[in-house]
Amino acid sequence: MNVEKTINWGILGCGKIAHKFAKDLEFVPNAKLYAVASRTIEKAKDFGHNYHVSNCYGDYETLSKDPNIDVIYIATPHVFHYENTIMCLTHKKAVLCEKPFAMNANQVKEMIALAKKNNVFLMEALWTYFLPHYRYVIDIITSKKLGEVKTLKADFGFSMSFDPSSRVFNKSLGGGSLLDVGIYPLFTALSTLGYPDEIIATATLGKTGVDEDCTVALHYANGATASLYSAVIKETSTEAILELEKGTILINSRFQEPSSVTITKNGKSELIEFEVPTNGYNFEAIHVQEMLQQNRTESTIMSFEKSLQLITLLDTVRNQIGLHYT
Ligand SMILES: NC(=O)c1ccc[n+]([C@@H]2O[C@H](COP(=O)([O-])OP(=O)(O)OC[C@H]3O[C@@H](n4cnc5c(N)ncnc54)[C@H](OP(=O)(O)O)[C@@H]3O)[C@@H](O)[C@H]2O)c1
Repeated sequence: MNVEKTINWGILGCGKIAHKFAKDLEFVPNAKLYAVASRTIEKAKDFGHNYHVSNCYGDYETLSKDPNIDVIYIATPHVFHYENTIMCLTHKKAVLCEKPFAMNANQVKEMIALAKKNNVFLMEALWTYFLPHYRYVIDIITSKKLGEVKTLKADFGFSMSFDPSSRVFNKSLGGGSLLDVGIYPLFTALSTLGYPDEIIATATLGKTGVDEDCTVALHYANGATASLYSAVIKETSTEAILELEKGTILINSRFQEPSSVTITKNGKSELIEFEVPTNGYNFEAIHVQEMLQQNRTESTIMSFEKSLQLITLLDTVRNQIGLHYT
């Protein structure tokens, strides 16, 4: 693919996150929001109007078949990620699919197998991994400048009034704190400490049968530990604190979105700030475009293995807390 080629994006599902992503796409060089699709044509046109998109479709399949589209961003509730991704991959469209990638590891394995079979790019939209402050933290850990990570504490809790129909509480839409926000503390553990040797999880299941909060303890063979918490009924500080052999890294609130980092070493603290003029979704989009320009079918950062580890961890936690989606 030519380096200067414009990448034509399609957005599937015109909800809240789709708006944020569409706004940030305007900051991505060589990106064009070419088409959008909603379950109703009125909503698609309304959404498209905001971003000067002329190709607006009233169903998802037409989008997946549009020959002018290079990559489709899937922004539907969790339970539809699998079927939407399979449809796009079947029509040989590259896919950036929102988190969680799917509802369980079997679905993720099928999605990856189809991407490989059809030789098309597929990536989970774990946007945090691409943010400047998070890359900075990963670099410190990988370089071992502060030694090995000994402990991680991370939380992500917000308070939403109970609404059984919202995707956050509705079990048939994949509701609950773990898949919605608990995925971020778990991902932080995976990306800084790796896959754990022991997992202990507890949760409070609410009236709709989904976890309103969830606590996870991870243990590693080298003695490292992680204490993770998520909630949809309680606001928490939403920070991540890593204690390493030679210092501490605090990823300031909210740690999963563009933020700052405080490094403490030898009793002295330094605040490192990062200028991000967007919501932060442009970074993952830039990476996807780079991968497409290089004709890759798998991300060099958010690899299939990482997504498989993440969904396996989520499945294990769900089994322990007795949260089963049908
Ligand atoms: N990366 C992040 O920072 C971030 C932040 C928030 C959410 N997310 C992820 O993005 C996904 C969507 O979240 P959201 O907050 O944008 O949700 P949302 O506002 O409810 O939007 C979801 C969209 O999915 C489509 N949809 C298809 N079938 C649906 C159904 N049966 N019920 C409801 N909606 C349906 C709808 O679009 P149409 O009506 O246009 O078809 C709807 O607007 C979730 O998987 C979530 O985990 C990621």
